[in-house]
Amino acid sequence: MKTIIEPFRIKSVEPIRMTTRAERERLLKAAGYNLFKLHSDDVIIDLLTDSGTSAMSSAQWGAVMIGDESYAGAPSFYRFEAAVKDLMDFRHIIPAHQGRAAEHLLFTLIAKTGDLIPSNTHFDTTRGNIEAMGAEALDIPIAEGRVPSLDHPFKGNMDLAALKSVLEEQGHRIPAVMMTITNNAGGGQPVSLENIRAAAALAKAHRKPFYIDGCRFAENAWFIKLREPGQQDRPIKDIVRDCFAIADGMTMSAKKDAFANIGGWLALNDDALAERARTLLIQTEGFPTYGGLAGRDLDAIAQGLKEIIDEDYLRYRVRSNSYIAERLDAMGIPVVKPAGGHAVFIDARAFLPHIPPLQYPGQALTCAMYEAGGIRACEIGTVMFGRKPDGTEAPGAMDLVRLAMPRRVYTQSHADYVVEVLEEVAAAKNSLQGMRIIKEPPMMRHFTAEFAKL
Ligand code: F0G
Repeated sequence: MKTIIEPFRIKSVEPIRMTTRAERERLLKAAGYNLFKLHSDDVIIDLLTDSGTSAMSSAQWGAVMIGDESYAGAPSFYRFEAAVKDLMDFRHIIPAHQGRAAEHLLFTLIAKTGDLIPSNTHFDTTRGNIEAMGAEALDIPIAEGRVPSLDHPFKGNMDLAALKSVLEEQGHRIPAVMMTITNNAGGGQPVSLENIRAAAALAKAHRKPFYIDGCRFAENAWFIKLREPGQQDRPIKDIVRDCFAIADGMTMSAKKDAFANIGGWLALNDDALAERARTLLIQTEGFPTYGGLAGRDLDAIAQGLKEIIDEDYLRYRVRSNSYIAERLDAMGIPVVKPAGGHAVFIDARAFLPHIPPLQYPGQALTCAMYEAGGIRACEIGTVMFGRKPDGTEAPGAMDLVRLAMPRRVYTQSHADYVVEVLEEVAAAKNSLQGMRIIKEPPMMRHFTAEFAKL
């Protein structure tokens, strides 16, 4: 069949409140043109993030009811631990309330001032946790990963020559090598199994531990199955297990590829490090059999991990993104190619060339999408990255807008609606104005800054 359907039926629904353009213009102005400040019930299609926004299955809601809330030794923890180990066979599985809490545990223990941690591309919270220790977070994606219009099967790959030279020249500063699958900041792009193995081998040759940020591991495995020679006939589970078999540990946000609304974990093979992590966990998150989560959350994750590796789901998931990207591309809207696993990225700088980067073309586009159709997307560009620690400003490397797709939430007609709204925005794009910031905090300004139209 040509039509790839949503491989689920809908049993429980959340009504969407429809709004008018006049209403949205007023609401957005009152929010200082910052979409983070909108109330979510004023949003028609919410593509701000794919994190924590998944629809849980009936089996997950059932699992919530058998969650055991004992402080120590709850069966929920052991079900969670078994489900993780079934896919990622690390010796120690340490729950945490979300991905950044796992990162905080790891980098508090392994990083110190002056250190350097290379990655294909660190996610912002990973970078934040590394920098908070006084260490440097180094991004070394392959060159193709930095060119939005270029098609490449594994644009998330790490530049292995750059990794080799940084290990040779600065090895004394490096406590670990990281790999993010898929590469969120680079457009949700996958990393090949070959690249994961080669990066892990280089780390090992220099006796450095190799950690994977595995937030979107199942989407990454699906791309490996589709695109990597020799992987086509292999079960997703085997591919997932291969990705993690060569790592020394991982950090995870269960808010992505575990279909959960909250949760995460740190996994480690090193016994001594795991003991230190558990001690820190007790201090900051909770006892090691719950780590800042309720027992019911652990059961929802355990069930979600069984569902996420379903090939019918992954086929639909990846196809529904590429469907939107292909239609935008056909309309002449510049998108990051190929489409990523969890999001469609629009190149706002190329789309709105009349708006210079310091007038925030990405922000102008997100505002226009909300006004035209109540769609909420996220600027990933000069607003997010343009302010330097000394207060000066420079254009971000790119000005992208991310349309992140919540898992199992929206249908084909929602996708068609998104395309139609962008068609309307494109028809009037020359009339879109740049923006200026009228109020901003000293850091992480994209969450709270306020804007005015120029
Ligand atoms: N690593 C990656 C690759 C991520 O995308 C995220 C979160 C995290 C770590 C942190 O996990 O949110 O559970 O603390 N990304 C979300 C996003 C917020 O919208 O891309 P968390």
